[in-house]
Amino acid sequence: MPDHIFLVGLSGSGKSTVGRLLADRLGWSFADTDTLIEQAAGQSIPTIFSEQGEAAFRELEARALARAARSARVVIATGGGVPTHDAGRQILADGFTVWLAVDPAVAAERLARQPDDEPRPLLAGDPRARLEALLDSRRDDYARADASVDVDGLTPEQACDAVLRLWEGDSPGPDDAIPGVAATVSTPGGAYPIVVREGALADLGELCAAVELSGRAFVLTDDGAGPLYASAALDSLRAAGFQAATMTISGGEEQKTLATVATVYDWLLGERVERSDFVVCLGGGVVTDLGGYAAATVLRGVPFVHVPTSLLGMVDAAIGGKTGVDHAIGKNLVGAFAQPRLVLSDPALLATLPPRHLRNGLAELVKHGFILDEELVRLLEARAGDPAALATEELIARSTAIKAGVVSEDEREAGARTLLNYGHTIGHGIEAAAAYSGYLHGEAVAIGMHAAGRIACEIGLLPAAALERQQALIRACGLPEQAEGVDRGAVVSAMRSDKKVRAGAISWVLLESIGHAAIHRDVPDQAVEAALDAVLA
Ligand SMILES: NC(=O)c1ccc[n+]([C@@H]2O[C@H](COP(=O)([O-])OP(=O)(O)OC[C@H]3O[C@@H](n4cnc5c(N)ncnc54)[C@H](O)[C@@H]3O)[C@@H](O)[C@H]2O)c1
Repeated sequence: MPDHIFLVGLSGSGKSTVGRLLADRLGWSFADTDTLIEQAAGQSIPTIFSEQGEAAFRELEARALARAARSARVVIATGGGVPTHDAGRQILADGFTVWLAVDPAVAAERLARQPDDEPRPLLAGDPRARLEALLDSRRDDYARADASVDVDGLTPEQACDAVLRLWEGDSPGPDDAIPGVAATVSTPGGAYPIVVREGALADLGELCAAVELSGRAFVLTDDGAGPLYASAALDSLRAAGFQAATMTISGGEEQKTLATVATVYDWLLGERVERSDFVVCLGGGVVTDLGGYAAATVLRGVPFVHVPTSLLGMVDAAIGGKTGVDHAIGKNLVGAFAQPRLVLSDPALLATLPPRHLRNGLAELVKHGFILDEELVRLLEARAGDPAALATEELIARSTAIKAGVVSEDEREAGARTLLNYGHTIGHGIEAAAAYSGYLHGEAVAIGMHAAGRIACEIGLLPAAALERQQALIRACGLPEQAEGVDRGAVVSAMRSDKKVRAGAISWVLLESIGHAAIHRDVPDQAVEAALDAVLA
């Protein structure tokens, strides 16, 4: 397999964003020829063009590319013109070249959203018309790439997955035959598709067969989702030839205990479950956490499928393989990492979700946008005002792909996955101080994001306008900004005993800009105190 991947295509096709993701996923380095040229020349590309002309620029470009390609195991985002000249083509021939094909209108729209960039020399005037003309003249050169990915409508994570599959020389696998796959999770603990599609519940049985599950299906549900959707799940499984049975537990966080797991063991073992059978967890995060744990431990592990029915489940709890239950000492303290074989999210099921739980899930969508995907923030802002209009197939798929990308990179929360804890430090403190009954998880995380945003502003990381943008979206989702009647001492003590505290220092996930978060361990106490003043009414 070649150990260079070159991404070619028009400006605005996402070469740099996808390239960086790809390099992270492969553990390779990343280079961007435009950046290398600017570093070597000490001038910006528009200046090189205007002072030295295009021919000199192409020469610098070929040299930068040759230099970058001297390293092994590197992903290189190439300038749009590289495949059009001999020197560029010769270098590309030594690696695996993928054309990120983008519609010029989509590319122009993306570029227009980067107002800080100096105007690109070849796109002066009407960028869309210039991109169309460039595509016409370069199409044959781009088409010489080893493979191409049509990136219109794909998130960067999805485009990255597609390039990876092509590079690995995957012949079409079972996932390719499944419509509506929003993302694939790929971890040492297992790889699986996540389907996000209106009406997908009716295809549950077929999809289980497509991921090569066999034997009997044991559907675990709760008394909120079960009466509404268990019979459709059973019908679909039976129509696909599976024997299927169901068990309904009482819903609610207070049921997420080892005692309930024991009743699930009684059912499964009483039915003589075998390792060749599988469990289907049909419900919100309580059912997927608890059912996943029961499946992962009964007979030392039987396969399981998650069918999340709450928004929080779809964009968060069902993805990534954290299974478990609460203990009297704290939430989620007993569990195991175990990956499902399939996650099936049918947004149509959200029509019956109580509005408070819908808003609760929106907090996670908002969080994904603010930490990793400014485009998701824009899409949410464009629809803000009606919380129900935010839980669409498109936005759920996008948010799902973000979480899937992060957990694929870091299954066990040793690095990137920590970013998903944005808003969780104070959020968990508030949940615990309210004895897990005052605030739902997403509500507490929304308040925690407010606090984290204030800390980031206070220490000069984040402009006040970015915090205001975050808060405006949180308000538009109908989520709280402040916690009322919560004991401050209890919040602080819960924060200090959180699982994420290491050697006494709290790891804060803080925004550096919208769409970019990082871990900070050196946050001064007074910044935390000021943030607590602001969010605890
Ligand atoms: N494993 C993870 O990575 C992870 C991540 C985040 C949260 N979680 C866990 O998720 C749990 C919270 O999940 P949740 O918010 O989904 O709560 P939940 O499972 O309690 O569901 C909320 C309520 O809505 C009902 N319900 C669910 N879907 C419905 C539907 N479509 N129509 C009508 N009613 C429906 C449920 O019966 C329940 O009463 C917590 O225990 C939390 O710890 C886990």
